[in-house]
Amino acid sequence: MLLELKNFLKIAIEAAKEAGRIQRERFGENFKIEHKGEINLVTEVDYQCEKAIIDIIKRDYPEHEILTEEAGSVKGLPPSHSPLTKGGQMEGKYKWIIDPLDGTTNYAHSYPCFCASIGLEIDGEIVAGAVYNPMLDELFTSVKGKGAYLNEKRIGVSKIADINKSLLATGFPYDIRDSKENNLNHFCNFAVRAQAIRRPGSAVLDLCYLAAGRFDGFWELKLYPWDMAASSLIVKEAGGMITDFKGGEFSIYKGEMLATNGLIHKEMIEILSRQ
Ligand code: IPD
Ligand code: CA
Ligand code: CA
Repeated sequence: MLLELKNFLKIAIEAAKEAGRIQRERFGENFKIEHKGEINLVTEVDYQCEKAIIDIIKRDYPEHEILTEEAGSVKGLPPSHSPLTKGGQMEGKYKWIIDPLDGTTNYAHSYPCFCASIGLEIDGEIVAGAVYNPMLDELFTSVKGKGAYLNEKRIGVSKIADINKSLLATGFPYDIRDSKENNLNHFCNFAVRAQAIRRPGSAVLDLCYLAAGRFDGFWELKLYPWDMAASSLIVKEAGGMITDFKGGEFSIYKGEMLATNGLIHKEMIEILSRQ
């Protein structure tokens, strides 16, 4: 099983790096930008990266399902179509969960903070993930039970236990103008408790930075599975803690996420309980 997971990770890395190569190559170009909502953008490069990633996964695993931000759910071929079934490898339900370009608003403004994210879920559990930031050439990876890595060096969460000394990260949902659940209340509450807060614009990188000890805590609501699939595994394997805002069980399908180094988790739950 471990060998199989390592092979899956290899494909995730190949796909994330290819998407990163495209992102770096086209960075600052005059590409086409469309609106998915009032402030929710999608660029030509999001689609180009998504196609490149799907092609790589389909080349080796044509039967696997894919859930990806722009194309939605891409069904796999029936088992009889795949030579890989011969190896008996296709027993579980395999789903690749992809954010081809996390940080699209940054990318559209030539602000160099974005990445590609690829996670693999087997029977409902995330087991492998790769995130690539092409501007810093940073590759974050993890296989379940085997730790988290940044460019092949093991990483772990920070040891800051005092929220006064913590650096936190968050983001705001695309319906910030229309919904009361827009995170502004929590942002204000944390702003006067933490050492500082950042809003970098890539939830996936925020979580990888938490895993690497650069941030001590992260919270956000209305996230999508592709924002959290690979990155939640990387955080957990780096020793981090993830729950919903109340301390309940976390799911990449529930939208809400509180991720910390474990040491400031309780205090963050208490602050999130305020209005
Ligand atoms: C967004 C970014 C942002 C976060 C949003 C996400 P996208 O993803 O991760 O930091 O605040 O909630 O939707 O649209 O750039 O892939
Ligand atoms: Ca995203
Ligand atoms: Ca995206």
